[in-house]
Formats: sequence, C-alpha cells, structure tokens
Amino acid sequence: MVHFLTLKDYSREEILSLISKAIKYKRTPQSSISFSGKSIALIFEKPSTRTRASMAVAAYQIGVFPITYNWSELQLGRGEPIKDTARVLSRYHDAIAARVYFHNVLEELAEYASVPVINMLSNLFHPLQALADFMTIFEKFGGFKDVKIAFVGDGRDNVLNSLLIIANKLGVEIRIASPREYWPTENFLNEIGCRAVTITEDPIEAIDGANVIYTDVFVSMGQESEREKRLKDFLPSYQVNDRLVRFADQNFIFMHCLPAKRNEEVTDSVIEDVQHSVVWDQAENRLYTAKAVLSKLIYENI
Ligand code: CP
Ligand code: NVA
Repeated sequence: MVHFLTLKDYSREEILSLISKAIKYKRTPQSSISFSGKSIALIFEKPSTRTRASMAVAAYQIGVFPITYNWSELQLGRGEPIKDTARVLSRYHDAIAARVYFHNVLEELAEYASVPVINMLSNLFHPLQALADFMTIFEKFGGFKDVKIAFVGDGRDNVLNSLLIIANKLGVEIRIASPREYWPTENFLNEIGCRAVTITEDPIEAIDGANVIYTDVFVSMGQESEREKRLKDFLPSYQVNDRLVRFADQNFIFMHCLPAKRNEEVTDSVIEDVQHSVVWDQAENRLYTAKAVLSKLIYENI
C-alpha cells in the first residue's frame, strides 16, 4: 500500500511526475473530470481552509466523493481507538486523509488502514503544501536549476521539513535562517535524508542572492501556549520586511503557505507586493497537486 505521509519514501521521479501531472491538470482542467463512485474521508483535528477546500474540490472533480469529518464529532473524540477507526473507515472509503496534532497518529492510521492514508498536515510535516510550492517554483522559474530558497523563521516548522525533503530529492538549495534554539537537529536532518542545507542565525546571509524567500507563522497550530516566548525570539530579526528582501535576487519571489500573520513573520507590504508575492498562486496550486496525489493513490494504488 502506498501512502502519502512524508514523501521520504518517494523517488525524485515520482515527485517530478506528481508535479507535471498537476501542471497538466491546471492547463487542461477537463482532463481530470471523471466519475468513479469512490470516496475519501477527510478528517480534521485542527482548523483548515486551503487543505480542506482544495482536497474536497480536487476529490469531487476526479470523481471521488469527499466526506469531511471533524475529529471531535467522530467517536475518536470520545476515545475510540485510532486503529479501530482506521479499520472501519477503510470499509467505506477508498482513502483516508487526516490533519492531526501528532504525526504518529498518521502512522497508526496507515498501519491499520487497508486504503491509502494521506497527511493533510501534522506537527512534523505538510507534504501536500510542499508539493504545491515546488509546482509554483517550477512555474515561476521554468524549472529548478540554480534556484536558491531562503527559509526565514522557525527552523523546525512542519512546512519547512517537507520543503527540505523535496528540495533534497530534487537537488534544490535551501538556506535556513532561524534562532539557534529552533535549528533542526542533526538527527532529524539525517532521519529525513537531508544532506545539503545551510543553517544560519543571520537572515541576511540566508537571503543574500536568493530566488525564493519563504516564511511561515512563528506560532504554529498547537504551539499557542508558547506564543509570547516565540514572538520574543523571532521578532524583530526574522520578520520578512522591505529591508530584508532587498538582499534577495532582484527577481525573487515571496512564498508563504498561509494563513499569514501580517506584521509578525511578514509585513503587509511584502505579502501584498504583486511583483514578487506568489502566495495566491501557491494556494491555487494546492488544488492541482491534490488532484495529482489523489489520482495516484486512489486510481494507481492497486
Ligand atoms: N496552507 C494550509 O495548509 O492552509 P490551511 O491550514 O488553511 O489548510
Ligand atoms: N506551520 C503552520 C502551517 C499551517 C498551514 C501550522 O502548523 O500551523
């Protein structure tokens, strides 16, 4: 059974093929429309706008009926074991997608489900987002050659972890600027097979000549109790603002997975700068990459 949990187990070719399929769906939307009578469970333990909408619409358009479940409304919320839920939902659905607080919940779902399990974000990874981001980078630069990405912010961010996995497979350079306390550990980098990454405390060093500036919130879902400390640790040095972006390549793009906290990790001026900010394209591309992932897992996973 092929799942979609981290992308660690996907080859470079498989990732490139998902991106090129997504680009094909974007160019010729009718190429993906079908009806199959299949269905997918979309389970949310945390809030979501983009993932929820893009997965539901993508599934519907490729002929897979989406049913959205709030974690707390399922018996899961009253303590039914994850392994039992996995086995039961597998009897009705052709795939199970979940957004969870702890990544090991996805691993348990995958262990007991008899259908593919898709990670719609965990504390550790957000592969659907990273795939759409690399599709966006491909569109903006016509490929990945010589693209340098600077990630400024939380060095242990779930979106960053997934960007690192793909970047490493595609040979794309990533530099991380983060306070030392938030650097990824050596162990974690080894575990995700990430060999080439530059980590610095200095955002200017990371951004210097970069083609892509990427940031994410300083306080992710589930970290609300650390808000005060995190804002103190990241602000003002790691805010992507007009002063910092001047160090990037002049044709740089600004990326953010969204939702953004304006004037925390990014200023209004940078995110709204239509010349450089591609955040709405990233969000749109979630639809096409979701279709590519769903059709691979549901139609080719036999
Ligand atoms: N980027 C992203 O996953 O957004 P949502 O939390 O709105 O799904
Ligand atoms: N790092 C953020 C990403 C949201 C899409 C979070 O986990 O809240």
